[in-house]
Amino acid sequence: MKMIIDTDPGVDDAMAILFAALHPGIELLGLTTVFGNVTIEQATRNALRLVERAGLDIPVAEGAGKPLELPPFEPAHIVHGPEGFGHLPAETPARAALSETAPEFLVRMARAHKGELVLCPIGPITNVAEAIRLDPEFATNVDRIVVMGGTLDAPGNVSAVAEANTWHDPHALDVVLASGAKVVMVGLDVTMQVLLKAPDFDRLAAAHPEHGSFLKAMSHFYLEFYHSKGEVGCGLHDPMAVIACLEPELFTLEETPLACVLEGPEIGRMVRAPDSGRTPALVCMDCDPTVMAERFFAPFEAAGAPA
Ligand code: BDR
Ligand code: CA
Repeated sequence: MKMIIDTDPGVDDAMAILFAALHPGIELLGLTTVFGNVTIEQATRNALRLVERAGLDIPVAEGAGKPLELPPFEPAHIVHGPEGFGHLPAETPARAALSETAPEFLVRMARAHKGELVLCPIGPITNVAEAIRLDPEFATNVDRIVVMGGTLDAPGNVSAVAEANTWHDPHALDVVLASGAKVVMVGLDVTMQVLLKAPDFDRLAAAHPEHGSFLKAMSHFYLEFYHSKGEVGCGLHDPMAVIACLEPELFTLEETPLACVLEGPEIGRMVRAPDSGRTPALVCMDCDPTVMAERFFAPFEAAGAPA
């Protein structure tokens, strides 16, 4: 499967990207970066660092540094640490991002791989909205857009009703939901069903010492944040969007047109919009947490196992 991940790395973004890099069913064509968990400059440095670590020879294109219409944002340092990778210090990557912007790169790749490209945005969805505005055919050139974001019935994680990625740029999500693209939403309804705990990161480190130990090192900060919120572990948010690209049948899906609340106290809330005339999206509503966790571990265990 040809895939581009649009990302704001971020601890669980790093988990998703290294999972995708190791998965034999995924051909990663590039990463595009966006503000969110960190500033856009830091997001790009972190994405380049992940590409280098994974030994991938793929481009990174830098995207939006702020939402489409809302004022500049505050990075989520409290969740992902000062540089985005928990307590790990910043490192300067050896390679550089493309001179092309993320929306330009997305438009070009969707044309070049018409009908084949699965786009997996796991941060605020600003770059995808900009690509849609840049090219009226972008929404149909991509095979589908599998988004980590939103929640329908589960509580929000930045307000009572809003998930962080949709709350960061609700206007962008609304552009995507109105675009006619095939959209799959992987939100808190399912991602908070799968909570990883410290022993899960021990397992990851044992399975794949190189990538697993790196993820374990950054998980401490991330787990502390979740514990401070009364959770027993951290949600498997971004990796589950990549899993949903590969195996949507692992989820109970609700098919419904969607919209995003654009102002007021419920800003960033994703809502069912049955009378909107929009193309219905598929929303992941339920899953088997044990199966999902095993799917996440599998490529680390397969790649890390001695030959
Ligand atoms: C989403 O917000 C970010 O903190 C995570 O990386 C994930 O993409 C979860 O709400
Ligand atoms: Ca993310």
